[in-house]
Amino acid sequence: MNKALSDTFARLVPVIDQALHEYLPAEDSTPASLSQAMNYSVFAGGKRFRPVLALLVNEALGGNPANALAAACALELVHTYSLIHDDLPAMDNDDLRRGKPTSHKVFGEAMAILAGDALLTLAFEIAASSPPDTQPAMLVREIAIGAGHKGMVAGQAADIESEGKSGTVGQVEYIHLRKTAALIRAAAAVGAIAANAGEDKIRLASSFGETLGLVFQITDDILDETASTVQLGKTAGKDAASRKLTYPAVIGLDAARQSATALAEDASKLLEELAPSDTILKHLVSFVLERSS
Ligand code: IPE
Ligand code: IPE
Ligand code: MG
Ligand code: MG
Ligand code: MG
Repeated sequence: MNKALSDTFARLVPVIDQALHEYLPAEDSTPASLSQAMNYSVFAGGKRFRPVLALLVNEALGGNPANALAAACALELVHTYSLIHDDLPAMDNDDLRRGKPTSHKVFGEAMAILAGDALLTLAFEIAASSPPDTQPAMLVREIAIGAGHKGMVAGQAADIESEGKSGTVGQVEYIHLRKTAALIRAAAAVGAIAANAGEDKIRLASSFGETLGLVFQITDDILDETASTVQLGKTAGKDAASRKLTYPAVIGLDAARQSATALAEDASKLLEELAPSDTILKHLVSFVLERSS
C-alpha cells in the first residue's frame, strides 16, 4: 500500500474503532452471548475499507469527517453482518473469517444469525442519530438501499442461486454490482451526503463508489484463486470448490485482471470529476486493484 494511504488508514481506523467500541454493547451486557458475538466479529480485524472510503469522500468534498463518522460506522456494521451471514452453513459455509473461526463456529448458528440481525439493526440506529445538518434520513435511506433487496441481499440471493451453474459476464456483473458494489456505492454516497454536497456530486460519488465496488469484488474473486488462506484470513480456493459464478470462472484470470484494471481506470476518471484536487482517493483506487488481502 502507498505510504500516504497507509498513513491515512493509520489515522482513520483508530477513530472508527473507537466510535465502534462506543456504539457496541459491552461484552458483559445482557444477553452476554449476543454482545460477545457482536463484538467478536466487529473487532476481528477487518480492513475498515467502507468507513474509510466514506470518510475520505467526505473530506475530499470539504465535509467535516466527524459528522460522517456515525454513518461510516453504520456501514461497517452492515458489512460485518453480511460477512457473518455469508459464512453460515446455509450460505458459503466458511470456517474462517478475518483470520479467526467464523461466528457460527464460536457461538453456534442461532447466535451468529442473531448477532448479524443485531448489527444490521444497530447500524440504522446509529446512522439515524447522525448530526441533523448531515441529513440523517438521506443517509439512512442510502444505506438501506445498498444493503437491501435491491442491493447486497439481492446479490447474495443471485450468488447462491447461481452456484454450480454456468453464466455470462453480464450475470456475474449483476451479482457483483449488488452483493458488494451496492454497499461500497452507499459508502461513497454517504460521504458526499454528510458533506452536504450537491446532487451532481452525490451522483458522481455514487458512480465512483459503484465502479470501485465492482473492482473490489473482482479482486476478491482473483485473490480467492491466487492468494493463500493465511494471506486472506479466509479459506482460499472456496469459490471454485463451491462452483461460484465469479469473474475468473466465467472469463479466466487474465481477462478478470484486465476487467479490474479497466474499471479502476473508469473509477479514476470519475474521481477526477468528483474531486479534482484529491490525491488520497486515487491511491485508494490503486489499492483496491492491487490489494493482496
Ligand atoms: C469481504 O470484504 C467481502 C466482500 C464483499 C468481498 P472485505 O475484504 O472488505 O473484508 P474485511 O472487512 O477486510 O474483513
Ligand atoms: C461476499 O462475497 C459478499 C458479501 C455480501 C458478504 P464473497 O462470498 O465472495 O465474500 P468472501 O470471499 O466470503 O469474503
Ligand atoms: Mg458469498
Ligand atoms: Mg463468502
Ligand atoms: Mg470471495
